[in-house]
Amino acid sequence: MRKKITIVGAGMVGLTCAKWAVVQELGDVVLIDIDAEMTQGKALDLLEATPVFGSDCKVVGGSDYTLTKNSDVVVMAAGLPRKPGMSRDELLSKNTSIVKTCTEQVVKYSPNCILIVVSNPLDAMAYVAYKVSGFPKNRIIGMAGVLDSSRFKTFIAQIAFMFSIAGINITDLLSGILPDKFKDQFKLIIQSLFRLNIKRINFLDSFCNME
Ligand SMILES: NC(=O)c1ccc[n+]([C@@H]2O[C@H](COP(=O)([O-])OP(=O)(O)OC[C@H]3O[C@@H](n4cnc5c(N)ncnc54)[C@H](O)[C@@H]3O)[C@@H](O)[C@H]2O)c1
Repeated sequence: MRKKITIVGAGMVGLTCAKWAVVQELGDVVLIDIDAEMTQGKALDLLEATPVFGSDCKVVGGSDYTLTKNSDVVVMAAGLPRKPGMSRDELLSKNTSIVKTCTEQVVKYSPNCILIVVSNPLDAMAYVAYKVSGFPKNRIIGMAGVLDSSRFKTFIAQIAFMFSIAGINITDLLSGILPDKFKDQFKLIIQSLFRLNIKRINFLDSFCNME
């Protein structure tokens, strides 16, 4: 039977997550938000896009948690996002109360789910969900590392790409042009690049070899 995935918070993060879940046919999707009408509309839009994606997942939306009953996975993306100049910590008190309320509802209808917390400040919100849910720690996951790793890969790839465009061979750089004091750091970065972003590196290799 197909998995059931609930996403609480149908904003930028929630809707993007819903789209990925539907495109990859990870499960049937329930979108929940305090704004019921908007969420029904977003769910309908996504459902009607499934023929384009070649996916036959069901998508429903609203603000009624009975829709979420017996979800296998719940993604918590409800809460305020940062405004320019705000730190994640400034979201603490408002998002604590939002995540607390939503988690209570999630647990009521899906006591056996895995809860993936995205709302910020992430570690604090994951802790709120952990405490409120009473779930064992292996059923509460904070979503941060994957994004940070992906950003890290992107930045490193961009740096390497700039070197390659400038016609600088990274191997040459490592072998002598860089002052000794930077070599270890630089080598670490390049090794990470090789480990993390193989496809991009193949592409860069051909760039580096161009006369
Ligand atoms: N962990 C990460 O890597 C990461 C990345 C991006 C964003 N975030 C965080 O995710 C959260 C959502 O970001 P966004 O950009 O989607 O914001 P958004 O404003 O686009 O969406 C948030 C949604 O939550 C809804 N909401 C608010 N209170 C609610 C409640 N009580 N019940 C149900 N829904 C409620 C809002 O109506 C809104 O639709 C923010 O806290 C943001 O900081 C985390």
